[in-house]
Parts: sequence; structure tokens; C-alpha cells
Amino acid sequence: MKQTILVTGGTGFIGSHTTVELINAGYDVVIVDNLSNSNANVIDGIEQITGVRPVFYHADCCDLDAMDKIFSAHPIKGIIHFAASKAVGESVQKPLLYYKNNIVSLVNLLELMPKHDVKGIIFSSSCTVYGQPDPENLPVTESAPIKPAESPYGNTKQINEEIIRDDINSGAPIKAILLRYFNPIGSHPTAIIGELPNGVPMNLIPFVTQTAIGIREQLKVFGNDYDTPDGTCIRDYIYVVDLAKAHVKAMQRVLDMDTPQLEVFNVGTGRGVSTKEIIDAFEKATGVKLNWAYAPRRAGDIEKVWANPDKANNVLGWTADTSLEDTLKSAWNWQLKLRERGIQ
Ligand code: UD1
Repeated sequence: MKQTILVTGGTGFIGSHTTVELINAGYDVVIVDNLSNSNANVIDGIEQITGVRPVFYHADCCDLDAMDKIFSAHPIKGIIHFAASKAVGESVQKPLLYYKNNIVSLVNLLELMPKHDVKGIIFSSSCTVYGQPDPENLPVTESAPIKPAESPYGNTKQINEEIIRDDINSGAPIKAILLRYFNPIGSHPTAIIGELPNGVPMNLIPFVTQTAIGIREQLKVFGNDYDTPDGTCIRDYIYVVDLAKAHVKAMQRVLDMDTPQLEVFNVGTGRGVSTKEIIDAFEKATGVKLNWAYAPRRAGDIEKVWANPDKANNVLGWTADTSLEDTLKSAWNWQLKLRERGIQ
């Protein structure tokens, strides 16, 4: 029998791609999203890609009663919890909003899991928990020290990891996997779903594609005096479809295998790529010239971080196998598709 998975934040960027991969892998999916940063028409896109329409609830995970009813209505066995506020700058302005949204929603889910016999939860964490790793810890492994958070957003990721750990240590009859994402980019190969930033993008790749298509005049590269080979920051950019597939592996592990109650995996490629290298790779992959210039450093930026993904490769049985070139092409195709649809 098919297992039912609740995907919170399932109309968002990573949530929608993960829903597609869950459906492809044979799961039934129930999506809950408050649509604060996404659109319900993403459900149409998921149906177009997979031929299956996931159940959708316009609801907020902070609403315990609404969530209780959803758990009562479906035989949910596992949860993938994406629903969260994620803008670093905004979290500094509105910390309470971030603490409420991101923490209350998780606590509600953990409270409801035993009541409704939900076995497992996969939590969207972030490499932000490592801060700037010390040089001897690069590429970063899961056992690298957790650094004090740079923002309320980052703090909610750390606190949520601790909440899950404390809940399991207290004897909660659940299993959990924390996935620490590096920098998810790109869009589905069909260009039917993708990343839709609200207003001026803060993240690099949407800014690159919007500049390339003429929505933004110029990309500013924040800082060229970092201690890196070309002076620009280094990140581990991972294709969102590869990342989505890591969730399917994690869900199978949590539900069907005899594994530890709590596990943590880095989800990255293991390849550190500089901002300048992204620009060069984008121009090469798409043949489009970018208007860009160096600008001062962005406050709070990490100089360099990339993953050691050995644990995910060997234990989870997952690897990020899409090339950077194909990933950047997919981001560009999505931007072209948005223009066709008259969205941006
Ligand atoms: C940022 C957040 C991180 C969060 C992640 C979610 C910060 C400091 N970190 O990560 O906590 O988990 O988003 O997606 O905000 N860049 C430019 N010009 C631009 C935009 C970005 O040069 O217009 C550079 C940045 O300086 C950085 C790299 O591109 O070196 C990647 O930036 P971004 O996409 O914002 O991701 P992170 O900073 O890694």
C-alpha cells in the first residue's frame, strides 16, 4: 500500500520539487502551506509534471487545531517539514515573527506525531548552523562544531535541531533526519516549477537570471577581497532536484529501515564554487552575457563553506550527480518560462 507523506511548505521552492520526487517514488502526498511565500497554482504544475494532483490544504502549521484535523483525515506516516520563514535580513527586523513561525510550527508537528502514529520527520536544516567553519574543518562534515547563529533565522534552524534532539531523548516514539542543505539552486527540467522570489532576490542565482533577462540592471558581486583563490566567496551549489531526491532517500530510511532514531546528513555536492566562477559558468552554459560588477562585502556573509557529503553518499546512498552547467541551464530555462508566462 502507498504510504502517505505530509509535506509542509509543499508549494515552495524545495517543497514543490520534493513533492514531485515523492510522487515519482510512489508516495501519496498531502501538502500544507499558508501561501505566505508561494502560490497555490504550483499544485497545477506538480500535477502537470507527475500526472497526480497532491491533496492541498491552505493552512498554517502554527494552527494546532487545523493540523490536528488534517492528521485525522489522512493516514500520514511521515512528515517533511519545509514550512518556515527564510529571509535572513527580515529575521533581523522581525525576530519574533521568525521565532513564532519557525518554532511553533515544529513543536505542533512533534506534539501531533505520536497522537496520530506518525513515525518519522525529515527536517529542513541548513549549513548555516556551521557558520564559518575553521580551515581544518573544510569541507565541512556533520561533526564540525555548531557556531553561534548570525541571525534569528539561523538561530531557528539550530533551535529546531535541538528541539527534535530533546524530544527524541525524552523518549518520543518517532524517528527524525536532519538534512543540512548547502545552496539549493536551479529548477525542474520541465521548467514548470522553480524558484519564485518575492521582490528583489537576495540569493545569487535568481539575481543572476533576472539580470540576464533584463529585470535587474546589474549583478553586484559582494566582495572581491576574501581569502579565496579569486577573492569572491565560495559556496556549495546543489541542484534542487538532486536535493529533492535526498528527501526521498531520507524518508525511505526513516520509515522502512532499522536505523538510529536521529540522524544528520549534509546535503551538498562536495564542490566549492566561487561567485565569480558561477558567473563564468552561467555565461558558458547559456551563452548569455551578464552585466556585473564588484561591490563591497555584504554584512554577515560567510567567506567559504562547502560540504563533505561522504556520509550522505555512503550511508544515505545518495549523491548529487547533476553538473553545475545543467543546473545553471535549468535556472535560465525557468527564467525564460516565467517571461513566457508573463510573470516577471
Ligand atoms: C543565504 C543565507 C543563509 C540561508 C540561505 C538560504 C546569508 C548570509 N546567508 O546563504 O543563511 O540559509 O541564503 O538560501 O544571508 N551574492 C552576490 N550578489 C548577490 C547575491 C549574492 O555576490 O546579489 C553572493 C553572496 O555574497 C554569497 C553568494 O553569492 O557569497 C551566495 O549568496 P546567497 O545566494 O544569498 O546564499 P548564502 O549567502 O550562502
